[in-house]
Amino acid sequence: MFPIGIHDIALATGHYALDLEELAERHGVDPGKYTVGLGQSTQTVPATDEDIVTMAAAAAKQIMAEHDAGDIRTVLLATETGIDQSKAAAIYVQDLLGLPSSTRAVELKQACYGGTSALHFAAGLVHRDPGHKVLVLASDIAKYDLGSAGEATQGAAAVAMLVSADPAVAVLEPVSGLYTANVQDFWRPNYRSTPMVDGKLSVSLYLEAVEQVWKDYEARGGRAIQDFAAFCYHQPFTRMAYKAHARLLEVHGIDTDNARLDADLAATTVYNRLVGNSYTASLYVGLMSLLDHAEDLSGRSVGMLSYGSGCVAEFFGLSMVPGYRRRLRTSANQSAIARREPISYERYREIREFELPEDGSPKVLAVDGAGPFRLRAVAEHSRMYEACHLIQA
Ligand code: CAA
Repeated sequence: MFPIGIHDIALATGHYALDLEELAERHGVDPGKYTVGLGQSTQTVPATDEDIVTMAAAAAKQIMAEHDAGDIRTVLLATETGIDQSKAAAIYVQDLLGLPSSTRAVELKQACYGGTSALHFAAGLVHRDPGHKVLVLASDIAKYDLGSAGEATQGAAAVAMLVSADPAVAVLEPVSGLYTANVQDFWRPNYRSTPMVDGKLSVSLYLEAVEQVWKDYEARGGRAIQDFAAFCYHQPFTRMAYKAHARLLEVHGIDTDNARLDADLAATTVYNRLVGNSYTASLYVGLMSLLDHAEDLSGRSVGMLSYGSGCVAEFFGLSMVPGYRRRLRTSANQSAIARREPISYERYREIREFELPEDGSPKVLAVDGAGPFRLRAVAEHSRMYEACHLIQA
């Protein structure tokens, strides 16, 4: 059987960055609660003319600059920040990228797990037809009620992955551990723009899922824990990765202390600490952070733990292809994060209060962000996007 996996991977995030020390001051809490307790320094705040489509297209554009659009037969966009109850956001991205009409474009949803489901479904399509490449997009904006405990865990980012046979970056290993349970830790009814969340319950269910996916992974003949050179976790906030990894090590009777956890995880948290939670994209932002900051992992396995509230979890391995480092976009990734414009708390509140019309009345949006694509207007209940060729690539 031919190997299937990630052939290319790219990151985009939003225009603004809110400092969590400032948010802590406004919330009247010690900044250490957010910077140490949650492990977050800043969070991305998208501009008013950015959304999941513009971020996903900005990530994918970098991939399309290097690969033949004609090879892509499927676009899978995973999100829990849907912009429409029916039409797939993937169609807007397919159009903005100028992909052929002989493409299937679909949206997938299961909280923060959706990106992982897209990756595995993509592998199935490539298995069926090895000439088939799939563009997997994970794009989300995490937004909680103002003043709530969750507000410190907001953020936004998109990751684009090209999935193919004989990949240049990472091979998807064959065994997965799976776990699904019908629980109410975090969900967003159709009539709400922010989620319902039981934060403490969500943390404990995530940790329970870590144990359960590992059990299933082991039962299905997965690797031993010692075989993994590194681990990436879904990161609603970076300290959650530490809690999850500590639980996995405890299950194996391995002693944990902060130094050990830091050694195992610090490289996976560099980007997430700055962009905040990006839901479906978060695990893959962690992977990019690891690959951009760790020693050469060629030929080694990386353990990937995906958790989506509600809940579905999966544990699987990625085997790093020798020479993968030549394919990384380290400087583009770092600059996507570094060039965000620091935002005052007042401006952040203005953006939070900004709303698109919900009655179909027209609104042309002022230029706010500086990405390669923007939401230009809404009219007649439709979103209209445009490419901004003169702004940054
Ligand atoms: N200095 C250093 N640390 C401090 C501190 C200080 N001054 N003050 C508090 N802390 C520590 C606390 O001890 C705590 O650490 P531990 O968890 O290790 O004990 C940490 O800071 C956070 O403090 P609290 O637990 O009191 O925080 P909280 O209850 O106000 O909020 C939260 C935390 C529940 C995670 C909240 O941010 C939240 O609801 N977030 C949204 C839900 C979420 O992210 N859930 C994660 C699992 S679900 C998932 O992963 C899916 C998803 O993406 C949503």
